[in-house]
Amino acid sequence: MSFRILGTGHCVPARAVTNEELSKYVDTSDEWIRQRVGIAERRVCTTETAADLACGAAREALDMGKTTPDELDMIICATVSPDDASPSMACMLQNMLGATCPAYDVNAACSGFIYALDTAAGFFARQKVKKVLVIGGERLSRLVDWTDRNTCVIFADGAGAVVLGEGDNYLSSKLYAKGGNNVISIPMHEGKSPFYRPEPRHPYIYMNGQETFKFAVNAMSGDLTDVIRDAGLQPSDISWVIPHQANVRIIDAASRKLDIPADRFAKNIEKYGNTSSASIPILLDELNRAGKLKDGAYIALSAFGGGLTSGACVIKWNTI
Ligand code: UT7
Repeated sequence: MSFRILGTGHCVPARAVTNEELSKYVDTSDEWIRQRVGIAERRVCTTETAADLACGAAREALDMGKTTPDELDMIICATVSPDDASPSMACMLQNMLGATCPAYDVNAACSGFIYALDTAAGFFARQKVKKVLVIGGERLSRLVDWTDRNTCVIFADGAGAVVLGEGDNYLSSKLYAKGGNNVISIPMHEGKSPFYRPEPRHPYIYMNGQETFKFAVNAMSGDLTDVIRDAGLQPSDISWVIPHQANVRIIDAASRKLDIPADRFAKNIEKYGNTSSASIPILLDELNRAGKLKDGAYIALSAFGGGLTSGACVIKWNTI
C-alpha cells in the first residue's frame, strides 16, 4: 500500500516582479536572467505569509480531491522558510483549515516536497492514515539579500499542495543527502546569548551557483535513472518529468543525459522563478489542471538543493 494523488492545488502571491523591475535594484538585465536561468518574472509576497500561500494551495487541492479538512489524518509541509520556527507551518495550516490531525514540517530545502511525499508513503504503508495533505510552501523573498544579484534574481515565493488517498501509485523513490554548508546555506539568527561568540555571518541565502549546478545535473540524471529502473520502467515509458525549477539549463542538461525527449520535461520557471520546495507541486497542479496528466501515465519527479539534498520518485497518475 502506498498512495494515489486525489487532488492538486497551488497559490502564488499576487505581486509579479519582472526582470526589468529587478534591474532597478541590482546590476542585472532581462537578457542575462532569461539566457542564464530562464526566468522572466517571479511572484513576491507583499502582505501574504508563507502559511497564507500554503492555505490557498491546500484549499484548492482539498476541493479537487473532494476531501474536507476533518478527514485529514496528517499534514506534512515541506519548507525552508516557515513564517516561524514554531508553530510549524503545518500547525499554522492545520489551524487555518480547521483540521484536527497531527501536523509537522520537513526541511530538505528544494528537495523537501519529495522527502515529504516519501514520509507520507511510510504512513500509508503502515496503514496509519487514509488521507494526507502534503505541501511545499515558501516565502524565500524574506531570506534573500536583495542587493545580491547572484540570488535575488532567482528565488521567489509560492506554494503547491497535493491530497493523498490510499492507492498503489507511488512506484519508486530515492532520497539522497551529502551534508555540508559550503555550497548553499541560509543562516539562522544567531541569538543574543552572552556566552555564544560566533564569527559574524551574512544572514541571507548564500549559494555557490556553479557547484550547485554541477551537483544538480548529476543528481537529476542519476536519481531519475535509478527510480525509473526501480519502478520496472524504461525512460521511454515516462510521460512527464516534473523537475525542480532552478534553471532551464540544468533541466536541459539533465534531459540530454537521459533517454527522455526534452519536451517531456515540464517547465514553468519563466513565470515563477525558483520557489524551492514549492516548485514541483505548483508545476504538477498546472499540468493537472491543463489536462496534461492522463490516467495511467507514469510521471517522474526530481529535485535537488540545499543540504545538499536530492530526491526523485515515479508515480502512476490515477486520480479516479
Ligand atoms: O534551488 C536550489 C538549487 N539552486 C540551483 O540549482 C542554482 C544552480 N546554479 C545556477 O543556476 C547558476 O549557476 C546561476 C544562475 C546561479 C549563475 O549562472 P552562471 O552561468 O553559473 O553564472 P556565473 O556565476 O558563472 O557568473 C557569470 C557572470 C559573472 O560575471 P563575470 O565574472 O563573468 O564578469 C557574474 O558576475 O555573470 C555575472 N552575473 C550576473 N550578471 C548579470 C551573476 N549574476 C548575474 C546577474 N545579472 N543576476
